[in-house]
Amino acid sequence: MCGIMGYAGERDAAPILLEGLQRLEYRGYDSAGIAVIDDDGVIHIAKGAGKLGALRSGLEGVYPAGRTGIGHTRWATHGKPTENNAHPHTDCTGDIVVIHNGIVENYLELRAELRDRGHKLRSETDTEVVPHLVESYVGGGDDLLTAFRRTIARLEGAHALVVFSAKEPGRILAARVGNAGGVVVGYGVGEMFVSSDLSAVLPETQRVTFLADGEIASITAGGAEYVDFGGAPLTKTPQHVPFDPVSAAKGAYKHFMLKEIMEQPQCIVDTFRGRASFDPPGVELEDLHIADDVLASVTRVVLVGMGTSMHAALVGRTYFEQIARLPAEVDNSSEFRYRDSLIGPETLVISVAQSGETVDTLEAMADAKRHGAPQITICNTPGAQTTRVADGAVLTRCGPEVAVASTKTLTASITALYLLACHVGRIRGVVDDARLAELLGELVHVPALMGSVLKTEPEIAAIAHALSSRPNFLFLARGTQYPMAMEGALKLKEVSYIHAEGYPAGEMKHGPIALIDKMMPVVALALDDGTREKMLSNIEQVRARDGIVVGIVTEGDAEIAAKCDYALSLPRTTPLLYPLLSAIPMQLLSYHIALLRGCDVDQPRNLAKTVTVE
Ligand code: M6R
Repeated sequence: MCGIMGYAGERDAAPILLEGLQRLEYRGYDSAGIAVIDDDGVIHIAKGAGKLGALRSGLEGVYPAGRTGIGHTRWATHGKPTENNAHPHTDCTGDIVVIHNGIVENYLELRAELRDRGHKLRSETDTEVVPHLVESYVGGGDDLLTAFRRTIARLEGAHALVVFSAKEPGRILAARVGNAGGVVVGYGVGEMFVSSDLSAVLPETQRVTFLADGEIASITAGGAEYVDFGGAPLTKTPQHVPFDPVSAAKGAYKHFMLKEIMEQPQCIVDTFRGRASFDPPGVELEDLHIADDVLASVTRVVLVGMGTSMHAALVGRTYFEQIARLPAEVDNSSEFRYRDSLIGPETLVISVAQSGETVDTLEAMADAKRHGAPQITICNTPGAQTTRVADGAVLTRCGPEVAVASTKTLTASITALYLLACHVGRIRGVVDDARLAELLGELVHVPALMGSVLKTEPEIAAIAHALSSRPNFLFLARGTQYPMAMEGALKLKEVSYIHAEGYPAGEMKHGPIALIDKMMPVVALALDDGTREKMLSNIEQVRARDGIVVGIVTEGDAEIAAKCDYALSLPRTTPLLYPLLSAIPMQLLSYHIALLRGCDVDQPRNLAKTVTVE
């Protein structure tokens, strides 16, 4: 949720922190702040409410001097997004500085205790109790690390915490408590980095370690030492992470969202490249780490994810049922725990998570682990927490997705689920050579088909022009397209702030039809995937009530196109793979409507790319 960046080395820290925060801003952009310590041991703090740009403008190009520092972008949970609530927070003396991602669940109690002991707390945040607790232990004679460990022991909830002190200049401590998001330590030459996000350190170094729950890193310019919360030393060896930071640049595109929509054909190719083979047909998934006999013995699949990843999981459910012939269910990760779901070693649990750090998904996975279920994660972030918790992973190969609205990772996750279902079907003996050749043969055409759909952008922009002022939208579909209707509605809501609902089209007459009048655009996915006739009836019902029909139809289907106010056609593919194509017009429609409404496309209000609070 919040973004964390720290630096210790020989260079000026402030510009490095601001650069890192720029890459982290997608996590939260309610306020930003940095703290650096100069060579005389004086701490300088600069903060600004709003986006990082406000902090930069406030600095007017004059950066506080110092070679050790920390920085933060905030997604507000406790306390308004004001400058006063911006991190870093300090203790009474100003000598101890803290940034934080997560929620201190017992902060009211701790605030009261600290106030009673004479501490002056100045913000409305939960975070501020942390530097004051550290201060109280340091005041009692502890060194910074001991004080930090004792402070952590007092906090309830899940956190990533970073602290430094004027008493021990040059040292930064970072801890991961639970699943509130990652902590990555980057190893440079004579300099070290720490961040909530791999993508923020990658332009500086690709040698990193990841903190697990219960670990603390003590970082100086010369390296890092690790201890557990009991103070026992830990050995952690830096790993090399192959990731191309250049692909995080916006390139020629006005927005990351548009760039990422356009990258989809390549992401699909990259996701199946080297995994699908055609003669003889085969699927090889390099990071599964689950023995074939375990996969052959599962009797059920449960998929979990949130938001767009949950929509990918819904498409995956169809793949497991229709390809691998296994009963499959999907749950929002956040709901999974309330079900007391009857899972065990016979249930394969598959989590879908772009970031691999979504706390709801990590909690669902922890629950599945307690029940002994084998787990696979579909993830776009190498080394992320879901990949470390699951037995195995199928990594999507999209590179960093910077826009808060997920686009390319949706279609790449669907592709990964398709490959996984083929693989499991093969192991179960329900997908023979001929069927596999057919399934993979169809997939291989999809990137080119996606390319042709992307070329229809001008048509989609024209529809956006006609409809951008409508206050509500409905998205209707059936079968495999139903999750895409939900995704279409989610995309529109999040980037344009238009109220939108995605419904299974059969539900329309059970309530939503009451909303339809001449002001209501209805996006109807009416493809030749076995749902066409029923969708045609839905379209007729919308027309009869003067609704505006935007049809997403199969190329050459003049009959349905003629019934629509606006028709967008998709090239033919198989019913199972249509979601990879139908996602695109809805992504582009949302993008263009958001542009026309003057919305902040890449960083919509109130959102964060990675949600690490519950
Ligand atoms: O990183 P994850 O895939 O676990 O994130 C889950 C959701 O927060 C995410 O899919 C969100 O719904 C999208 N960014 C919305 O476009």
